[in-house]
Amino acid sequence: MKTAIIFGANGGIGHQFVEYCLAQYDHVFACTRQIQSFKTIEGQSKGKLHMMKLDPGSEKELQLFSEFLSGREFEVQLIINACGVLHNDSKDISPEKKIEDFNPNSFKEVISANALITPLIAKHLLHHLEAGAKAQKSTGLFASLSARVGSIGDNYLGGWYSYRASKAALNQLIKTLSIEASRRFKHCVVVAIHPGTTDTSLSKPFQANVPEEKLFSTEYAVSKMMNVLENTTLEDSGKFFAWDGKEIEW
Ligand SMILES: NC(=O)c1ccc[n+]([C@@H]2O[C@H](COP(=O)([O-])OP(=O)(O)OC[C@H]3O[C@@H](n4cnc5c(N)ncnc54)[C@H](OP(=O)(O)O)[C@@H]3O)[C@@H](O)[C@H]2O)c1
Repeated sequence: MKTAIIFGANGGIGHQFVEYCLAQYDHVFACTRQIQSFKTIEGQSKGKLHMMKLDPGSEKELQLFSEFLSGREFEVQLIINACGVLHNDSKDISPEKKIEDFNPNSFKEVISANALITPLIAKHLLHHLEAGAKAQKSTGLFASLSARVGSIGDNYLGGWYSYRASKAALNQLIKTLSIEASRRFKHCVVVAIHPGTTDTSLSKPFQANVPEEKLFSTEYAVSKMMNVLENTTLEDSGKFFAWDGKEIEW
């Protein structure tokens, strides 16, 4: 029973991953903190979609989810973390234009949402991915949504201190996890992926100067990223990919 698990399932990109996976997998776990506002997916097959109200920042909740999966028929093949934050409605999180805008509390919240969740998910669920991949005689995919602005080598513009730092931390965590996976979870590919600028609530306030052809729909971004992810092999583990399959320097 080929199974996918998506975190941040109520987000623009996360929701689209759920929709994509419903057509490709026997079971899809859509994990979100906001189950009540999850948008219905038209024509979804009953019994395939498992809605999970889950805060991935909570170890307790991840542990319970892991226990739930244990001993059941799900063979986990794909785990995607599509959680992230750049700004919020109350404006206490907003990408910094200058160092005077830097706020320690906002920084901690951004780090929590963008960097902390991925290792927690791996800690509690990577062994399920390894077991699922072995059962399916294939490779398991563990991917986290990063952002090009998290690349240190690619930083020519500055600004956005907290978001850049959180994604740089995420990238280091992914790289480190991929090294451990090559020794302990040998059937798992661990990567970071950049979706391109995609039309979601996260990018909304920053879309004004983005040329039309460079602002992706969630459908386009997810189909491109899944094409990249589905073509990865164990040799690709530890890489940072863009939506078009090109590697981004860390
Ligand atoms: N959109 C873009 O242009 C763009 C570009 C580069 C990278 N990205 C990355 O792509 C990922 C998805 O972004 P998106 O555009 O889909 O944004 P979005 O629509 O705002 O969705 C982000 C989701 O992240 C989850 N989330 C936010 N704060 C969280 C927290 N503190 N703890 C746990 N979960 C939290 C929420 O999921 P639930 O409500 O389901 O819990 C939220 O719906 C992010 O990592 C983002 O940095 C996006």
